[in-house]
This record gives sequence, C-alpha cells and structure tokens, in this order.
Amino acid sequence: MIKKAIIPAAGYGTRSLPISKVIPKEMFPIGIKPAIQYVVEEAIESGIEQILMVVSRSKNLIVDYFDHSLELEAFLERKNKMHLMDAPNIPDIQIHYTRQPIAKGLGDAIRLGKSFVNDEPFAVLLPDDIILHKHSPSLKQLIDVFTKYKESVIGLQTVDEKYLNQYGVIKGKKHSNDTYRLTDIVEKPKINPPSQLAVIGRYVFTPMIFEQLDKIKRGIGGEYQLTDGMKALLQSENIYGKLIEGQRYDIGSMDDYMKLLNFVYSNMKNG
Ligand code: G1P
Repeated sequence: MIKKAIIPAAGYGTRSLPISKVIPKEMFPIGIKPAIQYVVEEAIESGIEQILMVVSRSKNLIVDYFDHSLELEAFLERKNKMHLMDAPNIPDIQIHYTRQPIAKGLGDAIRLGKSFVNDEPFAVLLPDDIILHKHSPSLKQLIDVFTKYKESVIGLQTVDEKYLNQYGVIKGKKHSNDTYRLTDIVEKPKINPPSQLAVIGRYVFTPMIFEQLDKIKRGIGGEYQLTDGMKALLQSENIYGKLIEGQRYDIGSMDDYMKLLNFVYSNMKNG
C-alpha cells in the first residue's frame, strides 16, 4: 500500500571529506555495490514501486549508476560477456530525480517530493543509514505498523546517552512491546535528551507532513529540519515510533563504514 519513497541524497557529506568532494558518500563501494544500492534494494523488498531521489549538483554519479550504459552493454555483447552485466544487478525500478539547488536541510529536501507523492502516504529512506536485517527489511517493519494504524511511523533505535546529540530523539508513551506513540521530538538535543530513543533513517508519513514542512522555520544548524515538521504534525496527528530490528551502519562514520565492509567481505568469503 506504500508504493512511493523519497531518498534524499543531496547532502555535502562533510564527515567524509576529502573523498566526498568527488565521490558522493552514497556511492562509496561496499563490496561491488555502492551504498545506495542497499537502500534501493531495501525499498524494493519492502514493496516500493517508485523512488524519488533528491540529489544535488555533485551527485551525477548516482544518476549514471542507475542508468543503462549502452557503450558498455554493446562492448560486452560483442565479447559474448553479457552475463557480467548481471553481476552488479542494477535494481529494476522507476527512479525519478530532482535537484535540491541549495543544501537547506532534510525538511526542505523532503518538501521537494510533494508533487511526486501526490497526496498518498509515502516512505523516506536516508541513504546514510544502511540497515541489515535478518527477517524483515527495516522499511517493511514500519509499513507493517502503518498498515495497522494508518498514521505516520518512524524508525527508532536505543542509543547510548553520549551520542544522542547526533540524532532526533523522541519522547513517547510505550504502546506495545516495540512501538511508542510520540509525545514530543527534538533534533540533536545538546542537553536533557527526552529519552534514549533515537530516530534512524526510515520513516513512513501521511501526506499531512507536507503542510507542516511548508510552515516550519529554519531550526538547528540553520536548516529546515524534518524533525520540526514532525513536531508540528504531532499537533494534529499521531506519530508512532517502532524499534527497528536490524544492524544499522552509518556510512558517514568511518568506524561503521569499516565494520560494514568487513561484515560484507566475510559473508562473501563464507559464501
Ligand atoms: C538526520 C535526522 C535525525 C536522525 C538522523 C538519523 O540527521 O535529522 O533526526 O536521527 O538523520 O541518521 P543527520 O544524520 O542527517 O544529521
């Protein structure tokens, strides 16, 4: 029932400079696939049929990657090596692109998806967060909660207190074993975080979020924050938080990126 997803991939990737000056962090290799492919595959496995990627001037590699390379295909065909094209297995899904001309924050990037979404509930996947699952993809876990309540649902993870200032942090009432009903949300709290429940980059929203994103002012870091849109949405709708089952890797963090590489490599070696 959730068929559309927005993937905002317009950030500068400042934590990964200098390499992110020329290679978008979404294109960092993880084995033979770029990071963003994991996120696109997760969307497809969760039932998504159309994706809008919000990119910026320096992200053309992403657009090229998901396109056909006719030259390469003709070359492989001549050499009778077309099977090699299957190896990277580029996902077959309709991807739309739009550019965010100025990096004004996540809230602004999502707002650019308003006409794409066209008044339907939709998903958001942040491509920094790669979440490997055992049973069900993380977005699908949220869609299952959405199907039950028909209200917005966001992905949560319990985070050590000292790192909470890097996340959106919720205040909520426990609703079931692994779901909360939000009563408040704060972006990157410097002091007194309302809980240890941090937002990770998976969301399902009702289209009402756009009305709120149209109204918000610049927030922390001088950016339009998705979190501020959610805070405003709480005045008129419920938002649920679901603890995500899965291992999350933040590819903007060198530590997590290396851990993910090691994990994928050791899995490849062990077949
Ligand atoms: C964004 C969101 C934040 C969320 C985080 C998850 O922050 O603004 O609420 O907790 O993603 O990765 P960013 O990491 O882009 O600064």
